[in-house]
Amino acid sequence: MSTLGRLKTLYHLTLSPIRGETHEQRLESFYKNQAVDYDDFRERLLHGRDELFAAIPVTEGQNWIDLGAGTGRNAERFGERLQKFSSVQLVDLSPSLLEVTRQRIDQQGWPNVTAVHADATTFDPPDGSVDLVTFCYSLTMIPNWFAAVENAWRMLKPGGILGVVDFYVSHKYPDPDQIQHTWFQRTFWPTWFAMDNVFLSPDHLSILRSRFNVISTEERTGKVPWIPLLAAPHYIFVGQKPK
Ligand SMILES: C[S@@+](CC[C@H](N)C(=O)[O-])C[C@H]1O[C@@H](n2cnc3c(N)ncnc32)[C@H](O)[C@@H]1O
Repeated sequence: MSTLGRLKTLYHLTLSPIRGETHEQRLESFYKNQAVDYDDFRERLLHGRDELFAAIPVTEGQNWIDLGAGTGRNAERFGERLQKFSSVQLVDLSPSLLEVTRQRIDQQGWPNVTAVHADATTFDPPDGSVDLVTFCYSLTMIPNWFAAVENAWRMLKPGGILGVVDFYVSHKYPDPDQIQHTWFQRTFWPTWFAMDNVFLSPDHLSILRSRFNVISTEERTGKVPWIPLLAAPHYIFVGQKPK
């Protein structure tokens, strides 16, 4: 990515005002001028996605839905295993990002992958229930994230897998087996990310852990481009809808 491309993305992340009356309009206002450079910049910001996809088992003939799929880059993280899925639906509300997804699907020649323009809170898979649902850094951008989790639950088969990676902050007094963030972390990161309509919450992980059978939870921190010394907290969750 060129320095100019990086500066342009940084401008849209930090200074450019986000406009629009609906959620979809605000997303498009935020993403339309950074869709082409999206992947390169986010590779250094959105940590843990490779680890999430490496942790998800795939068997022949399964269906996968990625909610808030962005440019569809995550489909590449499955590598050769992507071809095992009978169908993959990459769902997003931003037309600009979906355009990049469609180009990727054409270039890669993936016969089993479709880009879908839909809202993660209401999307109803046409072929019925699915084996795998993922959210990668999308729950924090969905205002009614609770409805999105409920929709994922609804569309998963019993025994289906949910994979989530996202920014978060801990409760002031988290469960004993969870990490406790400092006052600074719990105050600074939600304020900083909220400027981009990214809303960090201690409740996402709590609800995932109580609604699904936990297969694994990892709580980590990762570097943020242009912010030296600080690292933003994220979690990687893999759970199963009870059979
Ligand atoms: C930070 S991006 C992450 C994109 C991608 N998952 C990745 O890992 O690069 C968040 C994505 O969520 C999408 N999004 C936000 N709200 C949505 C909604 N209600 N329905 C579908 N997608 C949504 C945005 O358009 C954006 O593509």
